[in-house]
This record gives sequence, structure tokens and C-alpha cells, in this order.
Amino acid sequence: MPEADSTDTKQFHEEVPQRREAFFLKGSTAYDWGMQHRLARIFRPEDGRTVMLAIDHGYFQGPTSGLERIDLDVVPLIPHADALMVTRGVLRSVVPPAMQQGIVVRASGGPSILKELSNEEIAIDIDDAARLGAAGMAVQVFIGGEFETQSVHNMTRLVDAGLRSGIPVLGVTAVGRELVRDARYLGLATRIIAELGAQVVKTYFCDEGFERVVAGCPVPIIMAGGKKLPELEALTMARRAIDAGAAGVDMGRNIFQSDAPIAMIQAVSAVVHDGASSADALDLYETLRAG
Ligand code: R5P
Repeated sequence: MPEADSTDTKQFHEEVPQRREAFFLKGSTAYDWGMQHRLARIFRPEDGRTVMLAIDHGYFQGPTSGLERIDLDVVPLIPHADALMVTRGVLRSVVPPAMQQGIVVRASGGPSILKELSNEEIAIDIDDAARLGAAGMAVQVFIGGEFETQSVHNMTRLVDAGLRSGIPVLGVTAVGRELVRDARYLGLATRIIAELGAQVVKTYFCDEGFERVVAGCPVPIIMAGGKKLPELEALTMARRAIDAGAAGVDMGRNIFQSDAPIAMIQAVSAVVHDGASSADALDLYETLRAG
């Protein structure tokens, strides 16, 4: 039997109201604790930003250049990322479970690159996302695409399931070849995705008006990387997106298809988290690459 606890010496600080800090992420204050906790594994609480490394390309295009051997070529990048966007197949087969970064698991799929890409369905059960310890679920939304409604419905069902389990949904603006990636289109797509419940939105950068796209979206926007660009162009795009209010980046090919992927992810991180200019980030890239 433990000794009785003295009541006279306890400090309740009755005069101090209980602290309740607002959650750090845009639009996320009203979420349940588990969802906020998962979001805090994707975005760094100190600056509200993320460097998410996207390696999920194989779900529709097979062994993408740079991802042929994820165990050899990508696992060494993970310590430099804040979060990893990945399929459950690769996660279970080659990603070390001791990693601490948030996992955003690919949650939609179906058609290969040989077919109509917008014809996706939900590709994971919420129980499996929870079993994997996922911090988020990623779903493509094809606004203006052939299977637009179906892809929106995939997202809303994942949002419902995610709310039951405290797992946020990352809605990805999936732009078909025929659609123009301008601020008007991206503003439409990102707003629809957020209005229908996604807690985070991933979208492409546009040269004109990206700050209006970000401002018009009530939840955090992270910038998609897209096809491989020269390093300075990719770093400049990231710098401009962050300056326009993006809460980070989700980049794949611009990192793992770089000549020096470990150097590149650190340069991207310097832009996102350390305020580096694209020129300084390129210097860092060159220095790390040479070393
Ligand atoms: C697009 O959103 C898909 O999920 C891709 O597989 C991937 O995330 C794209 O990354 P990136 O365009 O930066 O290579």
C-alpha cells in the first residue's frame, strides 16, 4: 500500500487558467487529438512545414527511373525527409519500420499508365492504414477528368473513414494532360478538395497567382514536384511556392532522379525549413554533391 499523499503541499496554480495552445496548422484547430497528432508527424510543429518525399509512382507506372531499388537508392534519403508518401507494398517490403517520419500511404489506384488514369478506386482499407501506423492517406482527385465524380467520391469516402480513425487525407490535384495548370484551374481543384473534407491538399505550382491558390484553400497546401527539372529550377520553384504560402513540398522525381539525391533533398529542406534562397540552396547542393 503506497503512503497517503499529502493534500496540503499540492500545487494546483488555481490562479493560472489551463493552457490550451491552438494547433499550429492552418485550418486544423478543430480536429480531434489523434488527427492533430498525425498531422504533427507530417509537418514540423516548429515551422508548420514539411518536406515529403514521394516514392509512390510505382502504383501506376511500375519501376520508375530512380525507384528501381528503393532499398538501395531511396532508404538512405528517408532521414532527410519529414514524411514519406509511399505504397503499402513498398512500405512493408523495404522501408525500415524504425523510421520516425510520418507515413502518407497511397490510398487510391487501379489503372496503370496504359489506361485512363482517372478511373481510380480506393486501394486500401482504413484498417490497414491504421495497422501500418499511417499519418495520412493520399488520394488522387481528377477535377475535370473523365472519372471526376468517382475520384471525388473516393476521396470523400476516405475522409469519412479517416475521421472515424483519426487519419487525415491528402487530396492530390491530379491534372490530366489536356488540363491547363493555371491558377484558375488549381484554385478550383484545391478548393473543391478542401471543401469536401481533405485535411491537406497537394497541388502543382503555377507561375502566376499561386499565392491566390494558397489563400483560397482553407487547409495547408503542399507543392507537387512534377517532372525532373534542372536542380536550380526545382529549388526556385520550391522557394517561390513557400514564399507564396505553401506549407511544404511533396517531391519525388526532382529528388530521386537528381544526380545526387541526398544532396538534393537537403537543399530542398534548406529552402523549406531554413529560409535558404534558391541560389544558396544550389550552393549547398553542389557542396554536398562534391563532398
Ligand atoms: C502524384 O501525385 C503521384 O502520387 C506521384 O506518384 C508522385 O507523388 C509524384 O511525385 P513527383 O511528381 O514529385 O515525382
